[in-house]
Amino acid sequence: MGTFDAYVVDQDARGVITAGLARRDLRELGSSGTLIRVQYSSLNYKDALAVRGEPGIVKRFPHVPGIDAAGFLADDPAAGPVLVTGYGLGTELWGGYGDYVRVPDDWIVPVPAGLSPREAMVLGTAGFTAALSVDALLQAGLDPGRGEILVTGATGGVGSIAIMLLAKLGFTVAAATRKPAEEAYLRRLGASRIAGALADAKVPDKALHKARWAGAIDTVGGEVLAEVLKEVGYGGAVATCGMAAGTRFQGSVFPFILRGVRLLGIDSVQCPRAVRERLWARLAASWKLPDLAQIERVVDRRGLGPAVTALLQGGRTGRTLVVVDGREP
Ligand SMILES: NC(=O)c1ccc[n+]([C@@H]2O[C@H](COP(=O)([O-])OP(=O)(O)OC[C@H]3O[C@@H](n4cnc5c(N)ncnc54)[C@H](OP(=O)(O)O)[C@@H]3O)[C@@H](O)[C@H]2O)c1
Repeated sequence: MGTFDAYVVDQDARGVITAGLARRDLRELGSSGTLIRVQYSSLNYKDALAVRGEPGIVKRFPHVPGIDAAGFLADDPAAGPVLVTGYGLGTELWGGYGDYVRVPDDWIVPVPAGLSPREAMVLGTAGFTAALSVDALLQAGLDPGRGEILVTGATGGVGSIAIMLLAKLGFTVAAATRKPAEEAYLRRLGASRIAGALADAKVPDKALHKARWAGAIDTVGGEVLAEVLKEVGYGGAVATCGMAAGTRFQGSVFPFILRGVRLLGIDSVQCPRAVRERLWARLAASWKLPDLAQIERVVDRRGLGPAVTALLQGGRTGRTLVVVDGREP
């Protein structure tokens, strides 16, 4: 067996975290499961935390982050492109920032015709999570006739793709952002209104506000989620997937018992395989986003350091594609 390049996060004896490209032995990936040659990965919020050695994400050192990977089966490249998102990739197991990953067979989803491995990774976990969130709102009975949908953390990866998907499906979308200077970007994606950051407008004692939204996709969590719940109208629904602003929020039961609002939990990590296949097929066909170039930034693994800093400082927009080895097999 040979060696491979990987972006390795390690901790020295004094507890200092280091990260950078290194050559590793393929045997370190273990022997069970299927070996995938990685062409592309992506940078998600969770990956940024992993690069910083966050103990909640990194189970042991040395570690290779990357919760997303797309590429080819090392033993059977002719079988076509495949992708893996979530499960334990880039957390329990070494992830997509290595030339290879080795994963259980049932984590592997074929990249559907209509989507390239590169496009699949511009979407990545963020795009899949946005699709899960939109699907949850549709299943809760929302349709474009019901009114506006609010998307929080709008300039982020999940937020940007959620706006594009909702606009494509005919919804009127309002974007809540801390970056008013990005109004033109958000309008290009399909937002018809910029709603401010919500947390700034916080009135903690008030149990309900005037109903403004038919539904919402909240990628921010914390007190922003509490405020969103107060603004959703009768029979509305909120898909909650993120925690960029925190994990706890204070609220009351009033949105639920006076307005019948539903809070829909979104999990992309352990999401069943059948749901993955259904939504990836949609992202490749009727939900296919024609212009991913407007949200993508491209880095190779040497460019990960500054990209991680920018993401954690919240100063970045859209998605970051990580090119591992973009060559065809
Ligand atoms: N449930 C799941 O399965 C799942 C899957 C993927 C991601 N997530 C979570 O979803 C969230 C978004 O992920 P992402 O990949 O889209 O991250 P991202 O690209 O970093 O976007 C997060 C966005 O949230 C806003 N934000 C960041 N920090 C904030 C703060 N302190 N207060 C208020 N707003 C803040 C910013 O948007 P503005 O500047 O426009 O406000 C930022 O662009 C993360 O918490 C991530 O862990 C969950």
